[in-house]
Amino acid sequence: MYYQIKSYLKFLLKSTNQHGVHSPFVYNLVTTCFYAKTANKKLLLSKKYRALLYQNNTKISITDFGKRSRVFKTNGREVAKIAKVAGITKKKSKVLIRIIEYLKPKTILEIGTSLGLGTASLKIGNQTASITTLEGCPKTLEIAKNQLNSFGFNDINFVVGDFKKTLNKTIENNTYDFIYFDGNHQKEATINYFEQCLKTTTNESVFIFDDIHWSKEMTEAWDYIKNHKETTVSIDTYFWGIVIFRKEQLKEHFIIRV
Ligand SMILES: C[S@@+](CC[C@H](N)C(=O)[O-])C[C@H]1O[C@@H](n2cnc3c(N)ncnc32)[C@H](O)[C@@H]1O
Repeated sequence: MYYQIKSYLKFLLKSTNQHGVHSPFVYNLVTTCFYAKTANKKLLLSKKYRALLYQNNTKISITDFGKRSRVFKTNGREVAKIAKVAGITKKKSKVLIRIIEYLKPKTILEIGTSLGLGTASLKIGNQTASITTLEGCPKTLEIAKNQLNSFGFNDINFVVGDFKKTLNKTIENNTYDFIYFDGNHQKEATINYFEQCLKTTTNESVFIFDDIHWSKEMTEAWDYIKNHKETTVSIDTYFWGIVIFRKEQLKEHFIIRV
């Protein structure tokens, strides 16, 4: 917690809005996407998806991956509580919908489905996108699948299993326009997923890493990613690290309040 407060204060000191952004690509992204309003109809749909999970008191036995939870002490968990602790926040969901609307990616990969709150936001952002989502816990994924289906989001490709086994197989011979990294929030794993996914990029691909300042190690992973030779533009919004690969852009790092 102390690390998060310290890094947030640092972010506030260094961050800007659109002023001083000279790259037209990033300026447009900030002004017409980050600072735009999410359409009410889309907002209502994502609110409905969240509300249904928050009302779900079913207890499931989850398969735990990655770092031990800072919140849960046992593996028996209530769906509503998982949604509140592990699910994408309302603010991030709104911005994610707008980013997908703006970028119009045709192929999307999500690493870490949980209960499908992020998956629903991706789908709400672009109903025609082809979405693949990876999750290790079968019980959590079952709830996500059922609820996504009940919303009519029934053309999603779900892959169950440890990312160590599923990621490489899933991305083999595929390219993705957009990848949302929201699984294992540890330094080594994050760098490893980034490096594996580099082979799936095109000039237009965009990667988003969740919780880049969740811990000192995640900030170190983010530093590695933004300095990587394949990364041209990187944007730190505090809660996300956004990576752009467009070769026509100058290598530049932005710290932007959303
Ligand atoms: C933060 S949650 C994902 C939240 C979701 N993207 C959303 O927006 O609501 C991370 C998920 O990744 C899964 N996960 C973490 N490490 C994993 C691993 N090594 N293999 C498979 N799944 C993993 C967890 O089970 C958890 O459901």
